[in-house]
Amino acid sequence: MRQRSVLKVYADRLENNLKNTFELGGRKKLIPMLKANAYGHDLSLVSHFIDKNFDDSMIDTLGVACIGEAEFLRKVVKVQKRIFVFSDFQIEEKKNQELMQDFGVIPVISNLDNLKIFLNSFEKFPLVLKFNTGMNRLGINSEELPEVIKLLKKNNKLQLEHVMSHFACSYLVGHEMNQKQMKSFESILSTLKSSGIEWKESSFFNSGALEQRFQFDNLTHHRPGLMLYGPQSTMTNKTLWDGEIVSDFETDILDSRNVKRGEFVGYGATEVPADGRLLVLPVGYGDGLLPRLQNFETQHQGQSLKFLGRINMDLASLWVSSISLEDQNKPFKLWDSNQNHFKNLVKHLGTHPYDVFCSITSRVPRKFLLKS
Ligand SMILES: Cc1ncc(COP(=O)(O)O)c(C=O)c1O
Repeated sequence: MRQRSVLKVYADRLENNLKNTFELGGRKKLIPMLKANAYGHDLSLVSHFIDKNFDDSMIDTLGVACIGEAEFLRKVVKVQKRIFVFSDFQIEEKKNQELMQDFGVIPVISNLDNLKIFLNSFEKFPLVLKFNTGMNRLGINSEELPEVIKLLKKNNKLQLEHVMSHFACSYLVGHEMNQKQMKSFESILSTLKSSGIEWKESSFFNSGALEQRFQFDNLTHHRPGLMLYGPQSTMTNKTLWDGEIVSDFETDILDSRNVKRGEFVGYGATEVPADGRLLVLPVGYGDGLLPRLQNFETQHQGQSLKFLGRINMDLASLWVSSISLEDQNKPFKLWDSNQNHFKNLVKHLGTHPYDVFCSITSRVPRKFLLKS
């Protein structure tokens, strides 16, 4: 575990993002997506905070991807809120069925085989169905609807707990898939209804859909993930979401030395562009810094610096033309609440914000703080 590199997660920023997402989504209930260690921000800390601080009228359900995450939420964090497990729960395994039933973990049923197992083994348990509207990843196809309806009727399961679908391209502006998927979901819901199947709840919108203010009637819930942690999901230069990055990735400067133009730094000997100072940070790809961070230009205490040379497993080097000893002793932040800075970082890395967050390894401690 690192002592001098830390991901500080701020409760006040998370709370602002949750409240602003709730308003943006027309005050429909939120199902915060907490999978993949709460998008890298620590499942335990984030889920505990949400579970304790938000009323069921705003957040009544937490979303995770796999049964292990759900088990951790119930048994270790002891969250009270309803849990949906979205993809990986091996419903055919007896021990998983018992865990879901004993601990009130609700599987999101996304194919016919799992629906059959559910109907046989989960009597009186809330049924959550996910439909494929074009993404072709998980979800029951519209052609399978007659069979689904037949099964539901046969098992006298005419009232579903929740119906949902998921967008393939909501992070893209004007992509034709978005309208197509909404039409397809509308048609699936109308077939269910006309066949006498009712549902209590429905959800469809993730971050991109909320940011772009898609319109879809009668949804009861939204399922935001990324935007809750700050970044805008939609790929456009326009600001559609003014979230605060909930974390600061902070480290110290571990060592430094003066260098002259023509000297080199690190593995592969990258040439130093001019006389200046090299600052060594105790972070590397073993902590989740992506190798493409090389050459990223950033700021520290108002000074411009550049990641120079290869990112190593444990260390990274910054070049600066000059720096005072006082500034060198201050913590260096790879990112903070500033969304634009984070956007530039992600752009330089040639990836997306999900990847940047999820790359931070367990060697970096997460510290949960109430106020920035
Ligand atoms: C089914 C489902 N709903 C909601 C989300 C949240 O998406 P986002 O993080 O883009 O808001 C995800 C994330 O992948 C998902 O798989």
